Amino acid sequence: MNKKQVVVGADGRGRWDQDRSMLAALSIVTPTAKTCLRCHQHNFGGDIFIDELDSLFMQSQWNLGDTRPRIAHPGSKRGTPYSPTWDVHAAQNMACIECHTTQGHFIAKGTHTTTMMANDLPDVEVKCEKCHSAEPHEDDPELADLYNMHTGRIACVTCHIPTLQADNATMRDFDSPLFEEHPGIYVYDDLEKGVDAERGIMYRWWNGDGTFLGNPIGDNPNGRNLYSFYKPEHVWPEYQDFDYEGWYERVMRPIAKQKPSKLYAMKRFNGKQHIDLANISPFGGMYVPYNLPTYYTTGDPDQAAAREMEKSMMEMMYGKLFKFYLMDKFMSFMGADGWNADVYEDVKALKNVEARWIPMDASLEVSHAIRREGSLTCTDCHSPDGVLDWKELGYSDADIEMYQQNPLE
Ligand code: HEC
Ligand code: HEC
Ligand code: HEC
Ligand code: HEC
Ligand code: HEC
Repeated sequence: MNKKQVVVGADGRGRWDQDRSMLAALSIVTPTAKTCLRCHQHNFGGDIFIDELDSLFMQSQWNLGDTRPRIAHPGSKRGTPYSPTWDVHAAQNMACIECHTTQGHFIAKGTHTTTMMANDLPDVEVKCEKCHSAEPHEDDPELADLYNMHTGRIACVTCHIPTLQADNATMRDFDSPLFEEHPGIYVYDDLEKGVDAERGIMYRWWNGDGTFLGNPIGDNPNGRNLYSFYKPEHVWPEYQDFDYEGWYERVMRPIAKQKPSKLYAMKRFNGKQHIDLANISPFGGMYVPYNLPTYYTTGDPDQAAAREMEKSMMEMMYGKLFKFYLMDKFMSFMGADGWNADVYEDVKALKNVEARWIPMDASLEVSHAIRREGSLTCTDCHSPDGVLDWKELGYSDADIEMYQQNPLE
């Protein structure tokens, strides 16, 4: 980054130029998985993840005398490493762009999402069935047909991502940072980590769309209207009396039914972070960004929030102009009447801000850490103490009794 500089183009506008050093030019190759992992490892396996089979697989590791030292944040949001031990495709040395096909420098993301990231190629699918068939099982003569019978209702990742890497975070508290001896800074406190269906993995019906707070939209295709994808666990005091169920039936169920859903494995995540209390709704509110140098060095999130608001950009982002241009509309998505533009002055004065969990845990899409060994098999699901909560998933009592029996007996 420090080789890049601002240049003025023919159109008179400034932009970031490339690193034009000889070293950079000589390094140009078709990107391998390691290239992409320099950034994406942060959320897949996490900064301190080391693959057991190949400790060099992840190049940005801080402890290998790397020339690009980075802060070794503990915890990753997804816990799905793309590395030989954890992913069958990484073990075959497949590059990311074999699945995430490219057009020029655009990288396909796929058509499904639970996040708000940019999508270079919104119409290009990235999916298992581009290489495998929709009925891919044949090796096991007894069970292959039975696995194939499920692929119309159950996504491949549901069986093929049975667990997560242990350093994944499910409940991340930004409000009570801890001092980390090694880098010598304050970092958030990961209160909880979950590797399996206890707390980390959640099973959700999903039609490929999401709310922008990370809730996968979907419904059980059985049409019984017993499943709800929105059931807040951390309701805010202002909305104790809000009729979440009525809202769901009125607003969300029709949307959830618009496209067919499959059952997906997903990753739980929530963060406790400063919220501007002048801009809240039943579903969440406006996050206040932290000034990272202040946060890391002082471990004082209040001061970090106040300091960030001193930046001139914040006045633009949170001020009157943005209110009309974007923020009123943004708040209306959350069911609030409009944007209160006082936030900028308020936060600077530490007025009306408070750290809170988002009312409902996010369920993040997971697509890597695909394994063959350990994949979910019959009794992992069809048993009274299996990984699926059949009731939550919207099955009737009679169905539940049937589905919980061991189908092989
Ligand atoms: C310099 C860091 C960096 C590198 C290297 C990098 N990415 Fe990214 N990538 C990002 C960031 C940051 C985002 C989120 C962009 C946004 O906010 O919209 C992203 C977004 C994505 C997304 C969309 C994610 C989503 O949830 O919608 C995909 C897919 C992706 N990158 C794939 C790749 C692939 C494949 C490579 C290697 C060819 C790669 N990236 C290399 C930083 C990087
Ligand atoms: C075997 C195929 C495959 C490979 C290899 C692969 N991905 Fe993916 N990736 C997927 C699929 C499938 C999705 C989900 C697409 C969708 O939902 O539309 C996905 C989604 C993503 C997302 C969105 C967030 C998430 O975790 O679901 C990112 C970011 C991403 N991939 C980056 C990468 C990077 C970086 C690499 C290489 C280190 C990589 N992928 C390798 C198949 C692959
Ligand atoms: C770009 C093509 C491509 C995509 C997309 C792809 N795979 Fe694969 N997959 C492969 C290749 C190649 C292999 C390794 C060859 C083999 O072992 O059969 C493989 C191997 C596997 C294996 C192990 C097979 C074995 O015999 O050990 C599983 C399981 C698997 N893939 C599941 C998935 C899932 C789930 C997805 C979607 C998230 C997916 N694949 C997406 C190409 C792909
Ligand atoms: C109901 C659970 C389940 C679903 C859904 C599922 N798989 Fe599998 N799959 C398994 C299990 C379990 C194995 C391991 C069988 C073994 O190794 O004996 C397996 C094995 C495989 C293999 C190895 C080859 C073979 O003949 O067994 C591939 C490839 C594969 N799955 C791909 C996929 C893809 C692609 C999808 C989605 C279209 C998918 N699977 C959906 C459970 C499932
Ligand atoms: C990921 C969890 C999961 C795994 C693993 C799994 N099943 Fe299922 N199975 C389900 C779900 C969910 C349904 C209900 C689908 C629906 O709503 O139609 C189901 C349905 C069935 C049905 C009823 C089919 C019908 O048409 O009503 C049978 C029989 C069955 N599974 C047998 C098996 C066998 C045998 C295995 C192992 C080879 C297996 N299942 C593995 C989740 C699973």
